[in-house]
Amino acid sequence: MTMSRSRIYPMLPFDQIQERVVEMGAQIAADYEGKDLVVIGLLNGVFQFFADLTRNTDLDFDITFMQVASYGGGTESTGEVKILHDLDRSIRGRHALIVEDIVDTGLTLNKVRKLLLDREPASLKVCTLLDKPSRRRVQVPVDYVGFTIEDHFVVGYGLDLDGKYRNLPYVGIYNPA
Ligand code: IMP
Repeated sequence: MTMSRSRIYPMLPFDQIQERVVEMGAQIAADYEGKDLVVIGLLNGVFQFFADLTRNTDLDFDITFMQVASYGGGTESTGEVKILHDLDRSIRGRHALIVEDIVDTGLTLNKVRKLLLDREPASLKVCTLLDKPSRRRVQVPVDYVGFTIEDHFVVGYGLDLDGKYRNLPYVGIYNPA
């Protein structure tokens, strides 16, 4: 399959994402007011959303990252989840919020949640820009969802196809046909 930008059909323009991010940031700020919050970004796909969301969350909180890999390449999950880079600080007794780019099969989030729950945070919630509920293979609680989408492979605004298109300012559907 040759990759080409002409196969990308814009779905969520930058401005629409920003509007939603402002709402999500306000909600998170209200929910965690007065709490010791650690916001955990799941790299790599989250980098654009994470910057915009945290910039729009008017609170003082800790920021840290975890790097996980779930796709071996291409558009289908291998079902395997590898922790490439773990947290650099303790979350014990603190309120932890995982920030994800997209929840698809749920396998990645399920594994990360289990790992983090073992470390006994005061609470553990999940925030995702995109949710594809029709693809779920394991049920995982998702507390904040930017946009619920149909079963499409999407790229842009952090999301990639074989490492490409993460830098696009919008989310688009990648049509391989
Ligand atoms: P899950 O484990 O199947 O829920 O997939 C989670 C991870 O797979 C996400 O963090 C993404 O990195 C990747 N992923 C899932 N769906 C898509 C997509 O439509 N486009 C790009 N990456 C995706």
